[in-house]
Amino acid sequence: MAQPREQWASRFGFVLAAVGSAVGLGNMWRFSYLTAENGGAAFVVLYLIMTALVGLPVMLAELTVGRGARRSPIGALEHFGGTRWRPLGLVFVATGFLILAYYSVIAGWTVRYALIGLLAGFDGDPGERFGAIASGSRAVLWHLLFMGATVAVVMSGVRAGIERVALVLMPVLFAIVVGLAIYAATLPGSGPGYGYYLSVDFAALWDANVLAAAAGQAFFSLSLGMGAILTYASYLSRENHLPNESVVIAGADFGVAFVAGLVVFPLLFALGLQQDVGESTVGALFITLPKAFSEMGAAGRVVGVVFFFALVVGALTSAISLLEVVVSSLMDRLGWERHHATFLLGGAIALLGIPAALETDVLGAMDGLAERFFLIAGGLGLSLFVGWRMQDPMGEVRVGAEGVRWFGLWRWLLRLVVPAFLGFVLYWSLGDLSGALQSLAGG
Ligand code: PHE
Repeated sequence: MAQPREQWASRFGFVLAAVGSAVGLGNMWRFSYLTAENGGAAFVVLYLIMTALVGLPVMLAELTVGRGARRSPIGALEHFGGTRWRPLGLVFVATGFLILAYYSVIAGWTVRYALIGLLAGFDGDPGERFGAIASGSRAVLWHLLFMGATVAVVMSGVRAGIERVALVLMPVLFAIVVGLAIYAATLPGSGPGYGYYLSVDFAALWDANVLAAAAGQAFFSLSLGMGAILTYASYLSRENHLPNESVVIAGADFGVAFVAGLVVFPLLFALGLQQDVGESTVGALFITLPKAFSEMGAAGRVVGVVFFFALVVGALTSAISLLEVVVSSLMDRLGWERHHATFLLGGAIALLGIPAALETDVLGAMDGLAERFFLIAGGLGLSLFVGWRMQDPMGEVRVGAEGVRWFGLWRWLLRLVVPAFLGFVLYWSLGDLSGALQSLAGG
């Protein structure tokens, strides 16, 4: 009764789908607000280092395990490591559940911003508007609608749903982000924005808090540490050059985040709004950017609508990958049919997201938990798995990538450097996290 495993139609389709998973709210919303919160350019540098040194090796690890096993995370870990590794797969699936629940809430906000901009413009009190959008039954409604769209795509399957959506939407997103960056450069007074974003204060590079934030953001933005890339790789035939794919995916992800910064910071400085984002709440950017758009008049309205549209696109292609991890696991483990699995799990995740839709503090806590704990712990587990447990991961990578020489280095990164580093970040973040959870419980 087992059906043959689905497969991507083309190499390009796979790469765009994986880039679609990586590029999302993380790049355009989270990256900008973390950069502002952590003092600008130094954060950007640390984030780049984290992407290259820790993100890339783990990305290649996920691609290797996924393509090698041709199974979703739980089965893939079991296939190469035995049942003792099953819990790590379960953690991956649980993380996907958790992230999608609140991710869809934020995505719902962005849909509403795009529509409001289109239909009414961005005038009016931005703080008040954010309050109205991010709480109450309306927030729940738009979260549910966004989940509905995500379910609809995943239900259509790997080729007809996920790949097709990525092929159409990702080029649109790239074009919008680049176009907006060019436009921002023409604004008078944008100069200091570039200074803030690009001139590095080297002393700040040694701040462990900034480093931990950069590591968490790298994992979140690259979709690593919970099996999303692994799951997408499980639909590959064994022809792809995995090292090249990992560089392309990580490069595109960093590129979009970087260019989004070239939109956000010049814009905010040109309008004198730079102080407004520094305060560290999930909503800062959602308040400040619309303010900027409204002050820019008619052009601002167009720019704002296009900007939020790009966010919606990014969010959708990422949400799809989060849901696919959970769905493919149920299909593989219990032999469920795609439609049923998608419908049931999408519904359960939608329910879990409702508290986050009603209360932004709950959302913030879920985000902190996912990014500072689960993704880092998942990345740590996976690097130990491929570094020490999996037999001959190099053999799997070599298929399709015969000429590459630096595999030895890759394995040692996974064995020692990445785990040491992620272990430190985990230890460092746990203090922060327990503080945040306590204040949530107390408040
Ligand atoms: N990478 C996505 C983003 O930047 C979020 C995501 C995280 C998607 C983990 C899948 C897995 O928005």
